[in-house]
Amino acid sequence: MNRLNGIYLLCEVLVIFYLISLINCFKILGVFPCPSRSHYSVGHALMKGLADDGHEVTMVSPFSQTKSIENYTEILLEHSWAGYKRDFMKGNLLEVSGVNFWTSFMNILDYGTKQTGWAVTSENFQQLIQSDQKFDVIIMELIYGEALLGLGYHFRAPVIATSAFGANKWTTDLVGAPIFPSFMPNTNNGFTDRMDFWQRMYNSLSYWFDDIVMPMVSTTIQQKYLDQLFPNTPDMPTITELKRNVSLVLLSTHVTVGTARPYPPNMIEVGGMHIDREIQPLPQHLQQFLDDAEHGVIYLALGSCIQFSKLTNDKKEAIINAFGEFPNMRIIIKNEENIVIPSHQADNVLIEPWFLQQSILAHSAVRVFVTHGGTLSILEAVHFAKPVIGIPIVFDEYLNLAVAQQNDYGISIPFQEITENRLRSALKEILSNSSYAKNAQTISERYRDQLRTPLAIAIHWVKHVAKNKGAPHLRMFAVEMPFYVLYNLD
Ligand SMILES: *[C@@H]1O[C@H](CO)[C@@H](O)[C@H](O)[C@H]1NC(C)=O
Ligand SMILES: *[C@@H]1O[C@H](CO)[C@@H](O)[C@H](O)[C@H]1NC(C)=O
Ligand SMILES: *[C@@H]1O[C@H](CO)[C@@H](O)[C@H](O)[C@H]1NC(C)=O
Repeated sequence: MNRLNGIYLLCEVLVIFYLISLINCFKILGVFPCPSRSHYSVGHALMKGLADDGHEVTMVSPFSQTKSIENYTEILLEHSWAGYKRDFMKGNLLEVSGVNFWTSFMNILDYGTKQTGWAVTSENFQQLIQSDQKFDVIIMELIYGEALLGLGYHFRAPVIATSAFGANKWTTDLVGAPIFPSFMPNTNNGFTDRMDFWQRMYNSLSYWFDDIVMPMVSTTIQQKYLDQLFPNTPDMPTITELKRNVSLVLLSTHVTVGTARPYPPNMIEVGGMHIDREIQPLPQHLQQFLDDAEHGVIYLALGSCIQFSKLTNDKKEAIINAFGEFPNMRIIIKNEENIVIPSHQADNVLIEPWFLQQSILAHSAVRVFVTHGGTLSILEAVHFAKPVIGIPIVFDEYLNLAVAQQNDYGISIPFQEITENRLRSALKEILSNSSYAKNAQTISERYRDQLRTPLAIAIHWVKHVAKNKGAPHLRMFAVEMPFYVLYNLD
């Protein structure tokens, strides 16, 4: 009799668990149209995290994984790579380095617009849209790609927008986050929160341009894409209405690597979602190379878009010659081709086209990270407590590295200004003055001192939005107000 009761109890518990698992299992669509590996890795980390958490995810992007992942379906944007190669930057970003905010702004606008276009014309994507699939929530990266917001209306699902870096005009507008040009540096300007008079003026102007040009140029194009993407939805709201309806914005940044600023309750910092909790083992030869580096290692990697070998000869020489000051240190450079460093024995130099960067940064022999300052690299440097020498080349890199320098764990030398002398003295300073390493350690501890990991925080908020049907309670009423009411001008 007792045994029978036990079995009943067990069955009940199993049924309850089953029901709970049904309630908490969501169907989630992710759309990450940017053909840049770093943007994709943020999106992929989130979507894979959600699949591991027991949800059924569908990921639309120009990338695919080599191994299939359970509950993770991929939809390939088949035109994006060809379009990117044809229209953009000859595969390198150097030719758009150091331009003024206006040119930089137009470059991003063009990039964001084109990548939306490549998604819009994708047949795989069209098939998904025409399918009768249902989703509980849709996550998308928006770089001037507001046409994609129509997916929320089409699938009757709340929308979460992500940004591969900190808050900027095209994400703050979605949730009504306030902008103070006096202390919030616009992404492309390379200022920190401490600006002098002229910098504040430049910064304000750049926000005004965003304000004026976005509705004039971008929204018109996006409206056209929206019609193209959903030709059979005559009641589709306008771009402006769709933007007001975004539930949440996830930012790939953290206050320790950015600057302190106010956010509405539906704008959340989750920078570092892509950082593995367990350090992946390095290949044997690399592990040995690091373990045997008695005098430490200088690690140089300029991100997924820029190859060292594509730098102009004078910059390459300046960098290689600057290493001459440290003949006993080992050097690791991410590059496709071999590089000869005359001051160093061949077995003190390691050059490979791709590295498990996190595992290298986790090694205690690495004493300085020479980086382009992309958001992911900076988050990794901070996570693994490494001082940086920054060579910012485009976009947010100037800002990230200006902040690293302000926080005294890095030195920033804009790409245009690289000379042998400047790089050598920056290396000397970081390697001889221990306060950089100490500051990196302090900031790393601050960064890691969070209630939960960035990925766990992001998953929590995605579920919160799904459970609460878009979580309108988080949305500031400000987004519904015309500006003259918002500012009490009437
Ligand atoms: C995949 O999703 C199903 C429900 O859709 C769930 O029962 C199963 O546990 C999930 N698998 C993993 C590995 O999370
Ligand atoms: C706004 O989003 C909700 C879900 O969060 C959806 O039900 C509603 O249809 C959307 N409205 C518009 C105008 O997009
Ligand atoms: C060491 O670096 C810090 C900044 O990180 C600087 O304030 C300090 O003056 C430096 N010390 C020396 C001896 O140069």
